[in-house]
Amino acid sequence: MNILIVGTGYVGTTTGLIFCELGHKVTGLDLDLQKIQALQAGKLHFYEPGLEDLLKKHTDAKNINFTNQTENAIKANDVIFICVGTPQGTDGNADLSFVKNVAQSIGQHMNQYKVIVTKSTVPVGTAALVTSVIAENQSTPIPFDVVSNPEFLREGSALQDALHPDRIVIGTTSETAKAIMRELYKDFSCPVVETHPTASEMIKYAANSFLALKISYINELARVCDKLSINVNDVSNGIGLDHRINPHFLKAGMGYGGSCFPKDVNALIYTAQQQGTPLLILEAVVNVNAEQPIYFIEKIKQALGGELKNKTIAVLGLSFKANTDDTRESPSFTLIERLLAEKAIVKTHDPMVKSGVPHQMLTIEETVTGADALVLATDWKEYKKLHWESVKPLMKQPVIFDGRNMLDKDQVQKLGFYYFGISNH
Ligand code: UDX
Repeated sequence: MNILIVGTGYVGTTTGLIFCELGHKVTGLDLDLQKIQALQAGKLHFYEPGLEDLLKKHTDAKNINFTNQTENAIKANDVIFICVGTPQGTDGNADLSFVKNVAQSIGQHMNQYKVIVTKSTVPVGTAALVTSVIAENQSTPIPFDVVSNPEFLREGSALQDALHPDRIVIGTTSETAKAIMRELYKDFSCPVVETHPTASEMIKYAANSFLALKISYINELARVCDKLSINVNDVSNGIGLDHRINPHFLKAGMGYGGSCFPKDVNALIYTAQQQGTPLLILEAVVNVNAEQPIYFIEKIKQALGGELKNKTIAVLGLSFKANTDDTRESPSFTLIERLLAEKAIVKTHDPMVKSGVPHQMLTIEETVTGADALVLATDWKEYKKLHWESVKPLMKQPVIFDGRNMLDKDQVQKLGFYYFGISNH
């Protein structure tokens, strides 16, 4: 099957390459010429483990090609995946302008029956919206079907997640489109949920919001545990072993970030409010998440004598989690803003993030040298494996604030560090 992927970000590029692996011919369409040229040359414009090798393999084999020629790309392909961004709009809802632009182009240029698949995370009702925008833009009526097929991959493990999904969700009322989608995914052994497009759209928001809820639950619980000198990691472990709860997404930290959870939880809250049925639980999830870096800053402040003014703080980690260079909604940035507002002197390091950094990039050694304290803000394995004996003499005071509970507390304490985690007693 000839597949067109519109939008060459994390989701689009990974999806396209997975279909290449499954033996299909894929075209990646993006309006950004620089991205297209880089991808065509086998270079990724973001960091994602393993993906560049796969890109190289399939560009060399000519299984995938990239273009910014919208009309030709639409005409030449049978199945069109919409993988463009749906950033948060000013009202909290997802901004669908990129999706609508794609739908408009499809309507204008389609020449025969096509299946249009929304993979981007889009609010309930978007499949219907895309259908009407395409129809409105056709000069003569040509049949087509719109399918909702949300993607559940995570940044940092995109390839593994896309190759081994827990489930595939296909939302359509068309038997023809359903048959085409089944054919596309026939090599996957996971369960396939076939449902109405609106249910499919809701599944994606409900899944992300539920995972965010788990994180906020454990983070709020961590604050109580902290007061009671209880190790929250033991609590996560103890409840996670109950198979009805499961151990995933119960790691206490500085709060969730990234390009999905913050915006998707807000979008679902918005949808619910529009229906006059507010989602009070999710509103609490957002509030708890906003408070989590503040709780941690207070902890840092107290431990450093109640004042941060002119204290040098080394912040290790800028990306919203390890194995990505994405800093969108990173709790690390919230932390840095608060530290600066308290007039602390902030030095930063990240193994991958190279742009949008508030300070000149330093080596780890330069970052920690002369610091009154260091904060572990992202769970990069580089930090876990640091030679802490060598770090200690570089610092003015050997104080570690572990915002990810990633270090062996006993080990660093034995080396003479003062250690403060997230209720890591
Ligand atoms: C998420 C969903 O997991 C994925 O299914 C969806 O397709 C896109 O959104 P992603 O944003 O890439 O993926 O990252 P994820 O691994 O889910 O982490 C999100 C945030 O939660 C990160 O800031 C991470 O550090 C934090 N987190 C995660 C915790 O604080 N504790 C946990 O136990 C797990």
